[in-house]
Amino acid sequence: MIADINIAVVTGGGHGIGRALCRRLHDDGAIVVVADLDLAAAEEVAAEMQGIAIGVDVADETAVAALVERVENDIGEIDLFVSNAGVGFGDADDNAASKHGGMHASDDRWEACWQVNVMAHVYAARALLPRMLGRGGGYLVNVASAAGLLAQIGDAAYTATKHAAVGFAESLAITHGDAGIRVSVVCPQAVATRMIGIEDDSDTTEGGFGGNEVDGILSAREVADCVVDGLAAGRFMILPHPQARDYFQRKAADHDRWIRGMQRFRRRLAGEQQ
Ligand SMILES: NC(=O)c1ccc[n+]([C@@H]2O[C@H](COP(=O)([O-])OP(=O)(O)OC[C@H]3O[C@@H](n4cnc5c(N)ncnc54)[C@H](O)[C@@H]3O)[C@@H](O)[C@H]2O)c1
Repeated sequence: MIADINIAVVTGGGHGIGRALCRRLHDDGAIVVVADLDLAAAEEVAAEMQGIAIGVDVADETAVAALVERVENDIGEIDLFVSNAGVGFGDADDNAASKHGGMHASDDRWEACWQVNVMAHVYAARALLPRMLGRGGGYLVNVASAAGLLAQIGDAAYTATKHAAVGFAESLAITHGDAGIRVSVVCPQAVATRMIGIEDDSDTTEGGFGGNEVDGILSAREVADCVVDGLAAGRFMILPHPQARDYFQRKAADHDRWIRGMQRFRRRLAGEQQ
């Protein structure tokens, strides 16, 4: 158990990584609030752990503020808030083989990615920071993606918004670290969840993204364990797939070379000539 986490809120806690995090935090002794757009799923998860389920659309600032207010009034001070809910529309209209890379996704889809993958983190921080600063500490954890450091081939909106999510987390950490606010950002590669077309709780290690994942698929439980280890170690950047660090270092060392490598990778995914 991370010593000072008694009450934790996890958005997107009804499925996938969020659900695994709820379970792990509960096992570690926390009171867990499972917040999700899918209230029925949140209720199922909460029922496993005498937790509390709350329906929320994290794209709605008023709803996020109401969630924070309700938990703090009815249950107690939130020690850890995990902004985990996220969306990606992948290759529904477009795919990795496409020449457009997801750019022509509808504005509604771009906006949904912006709201859920970025603004939801901003809304949570706006609602919580005054409270956490007032009491001298707290944890904010934002689940972004390795796509926020590297790229998700074929999904420009996911890539751009996850980059923004990483930038926002950096900004929070830089601004509020001295005041005792601990910020972490989680950047996994493929994880076995519905987001990549795999049913919840699968231990599948291949076949996500239509078989185009790299470096294997982690289970949601493995990611949750990694997040808790990262929090305990006080890490800002939590990388469940260690390879992501090497890729990011190579990108920083020679951005142009990295782009050429990604172009080759895209051609391979598209079945084009190398
Ligand atoms: N699965 C992966 O390969 C992978 C890789 C890197 C990062 N991520 C990130 O991990 C996070 C969790 O994704 P997952 O893989 O567990 O996906 P998932 O689809 O299994 O779960 C996402 C959860 O978020 C909820 N949600 C979606 N929109 C919401 C909204 N507006 N308000 C409240 N809840 C909402 C869903 O109902 C669902 O319970 C996301 O931010 C995702 O981008 C996933």
